[in-house]
Amino acid sequence: MRVAVAGGTGLIGALVVRKLTAAGHEPVVLARSRGVDLTTGAGLGGKLDGCEEVVDVTNVLSVRRKPAVGFFAAATRNLLDAAATAGARHVITLSIVGVDDVDLGYYFGKRKQEELVRTGPLPWTILRATQFHEFPEPLVDGARGPFVVVPQELTQPVSADEVASALARGSGRSPTATCGRSPGPSGSRWPTWPAGWSRPAGPARSCCRCACRARSARP
Ligand SMILES: NC(=O)c1ccc[n+]([C@@H]2O[C@H](COP(=O)([O-])OP(=O)(O)OC[C@H]3O[C@@H](n4cnc5c(N)ncnc54)[C@H](OP(=O)(O)O)[C@@H]3O)[C@@H](O)[C@H]2O)c1
Repeated sequence: MRVAVAGGTGLIGALVVRKLTAAGHEPVVLARSRGVDLTTGAGLGGKLDGCEEVVDVTNVLSVRRKPAVGFFAAATRNLLDAAATAGARHVITLSIVGVDDVDLGYYFGKRKQEELVRTGPLPWTILRATQFHEFPEPLVDGARGPFVVVPQELTQPVSADEVASALARGSGRSPTATCGRSPGPSGSRWPTWPAGWSRPAGPARSCCRCACRARSARP
């Protein structure tokens, strides 16, 4: 089966593409580096022809609310419209555990994405994962200056490989119209996760702890 993987060159997307291929599917990668910009729709025409399903693992590299909402709103609308026009019958979207409860700017974008999927033209499945074990490293590397601000909250990290397997397994199954969860096996606090915060090969960084307020905690 032809399966479009939006964001198929990213951390999770590349794993999904590998797993779909191993399962005998034909992944079609949608990414700017493959000539498709989902926010504008450029390069999308005809790209989804013959795709029966779409896995959406796109991402925007901003934690601010406006760019995050702008990205997920435009990319999701363009993707769903093109997939519906091409006759696709299932969209599988990766989201985040706790997306309803956290008011970080990025989460507004993810909530917008979920809303568009739930109310969109295609039967859908949403998988909500916790943070990947692989998540902190690019965050630390990408930070400017000697300090990195990290949330202090409890999290239950999961392996990106496990999440990619769950997404790939969703292909060929019926849409569930539910938000499934994919948490890791045990909880830990960010600054102690993973053990490699001060990697000898990486730039020296100090971690500043901060608290993220959940919506339910606000007066
Ligand atoms: N990281 C975590 O711990 C975690 C946990 C739970 C859920 N998630 C969710 O998982 C998803 C994927 O995260 P990730 O870390 O794998 O992302 P990533 O490594 O940053 O990859 C993002 C992908 O999106 C593509 N992309 C970005 N802008 C695009 C555009 N305008 N048009 C087309 N493609 C575009 C990128 O390719 P190009 O740059 O070539 O365009 C790339 O393939 C996100 O939605 C995130 O919310 C992440």
